Amino acid sequence: MSLSTTIETPAVKYEQPLGLFINNEFVKGSEGKTFETINPTNEKPITSVHEANEKDVDIAVAAARKAFEGAWSQVTPTERGRMLTKLADLFERDSDTLAAIEALDNGKAMTMAKLDVANAANCLRYYGGWADKITGQTIDTNPETLAYTRHEPIGVCGQIIPWNFPILMWAWKIGPAIAAGNTVVIKTAEQTPLSGLYAAKLIKEAGFPAGVVNVISGFGRVAGAAISSHMDIDKVAFTGSTLVGRTILQAAAKSNLKKVTLELGGKSPNIIFNDADIDNAIAWANFGIFFNHGQCCCAGSRLLVQEGIHDKFVARFKERAAQNKLGNPFAADTFQGPQVSQLQFDRIMEYINHGKKAGATVAIGGERHGNEGYFIQPTLFTDVTGDMKIAQEEIFGPVITVQKFKDEAEAIKIGNSTSYGLAAAVHTKDLNTAIRVSNALKAGTVWVNQYNMISYQAPFGGFKESGIGRELGSYALENYTQVKAVHYRLGDAPFS
Ligand code: NAI
Ligand code: MG
Repeated sequence: MSLSTTIETPAVKYEQPLGLFINNEFVKGSEGKTFETINPTNEKPITSVHEANEKDVDIAVAAARKAFEGAWSQVTPTERGRMLTKLADLFERDSDTLAAIEALDNGKAMTMAKLDVANAANCLRYYGGWADKITGQTIDTNPETLAYTRHEPIGVCGQIIPWNFPILMWAWKIGPAIAAGNTVVIKTAEQTPLSGLYAAKLIKEAGFPAGVVNVISGFGRVAGAAISSHMDIDKVAFTGSTLVGRTILQAAAKSNLKKVTLELGGKSPNIIFNDADIDNAIAWANFGIFFNHGQCCCAGSRLLVQEGIHDKFVARFKERAAQNKLGNPFAADTFQGPQVSQLQFDRIMEYINHGKKAGATVAIGGERHGNEGYFIQPTLFTDVTGDMKIAQEEIFGPVITVQKFKDEAEAIKIGNSTSYGLAAAVHTKDLNTAIRVSNALKAGTVWVNQYNMISYQAPFGGFKESGIGRELGSYALENYTQVKAVHYRLGDAPFS
């Protein structure tokens, strides 16, 4: 099979790389295997890409190691920053193409995909700005010694990303790793390999030396497992399911104790108090769950509404959700496209059926939308109790539950009642309520009077079983650097 193909989307026609990107070249996998990627809108294959196995991971890691010890170590921080900035410019130049690839391969609305690409470019530029600002400390230990710290890169980083925000996760991972002077082997999700490969082409154009960024397509249990247990990878960063997160931590423990950061699932509460601005709260509750078809780790999937406005709120929410336009991701007015795959579609429908059987009421939705593509109607469950599976487990689809609460204490109690702790939100006009509740929620991100608004400038990550470490902001750099203390003797030895 060839190493590239022409793809025509309803928005753009472009040349799609298909190979593994290793050492700045697109190559075939060592076994010559390929796999199909599916268009979730019509359930038909788009194209096939070359597949990486354990041996290809070895080859990519060797390239990354050689670059880390060699050419890349000679590149100044200023130059690293310049390359990241150039890459951001190239993302912007090709934003229509990158957005169209996302709409095609993932099924997300083109209008939303454009925001992903803009955010990806901004994230790369932000970390380009950090590259020459990573500094240590000088420490006054005693008059005979000069002590200082260096924040050194960790080395070769393995990065495993999911399919819900393919190009954005690519940028979140590569930005801080490269800014800090590491090299990278990144594995895209098997459902959405195309945008990461297109971006690999831009890596070369931006002027990065060979081997600094390697992009491979492949499956979790083969290429992903090879990364997490590799003896020459110094750090692994993962975004995906809590289940796989656990296996990655185990693989790291059993191999070379590589550093691990995990960005996992969530079951985030969106809490609406009696005094909230109801129009705004409705808008954010709708966006909080149905944005990206509910395929967000931080999705506001549990609506907690105070009893004074509960019934009115539910009635208004039903009206609002019914207005969300489902359909072809390339149509200008589409808000919700298909779920990413048959497997995800089936998982979500299973949760919906489970909710029905457990005694919850389907207030809206609850069924497939149309008869082609993995579309699911926006779904709201009422009559939900906290012990139900649909109120405890991550569904990762357009499905939201609503529960009623009496007072602030009960809202906090229900809010914190799952094993997750990724995000939460509070809607109220009372400043003291907002601050007290945000302080009490066990979550890495809390929004007040909004939802899902993430900035590459601020840290993102999980409390509890939602993860380890932080991405974005200056905090992400802590996960891509290791601190060395140097103690320099100024005088003679104090003993002989
Ligand atoms: P997953 O966790 O299996 O896949 C995410 C990434 O991990 C992919 O690149 C995959 O190839 C890789 N992977 C899978 N098994 C691996 C292994 N043994 N070793 C190393 N890498 C491995 O997630 P999946 O099956 O696509 O989705 C299942 C559920 O996970 C979703 O329903 C959702 O609840 C959650 N999820 C959460 C995401 C988040 O943003 N936190 C993103 C994607 C899924
Ligand atoms: Mg696909």
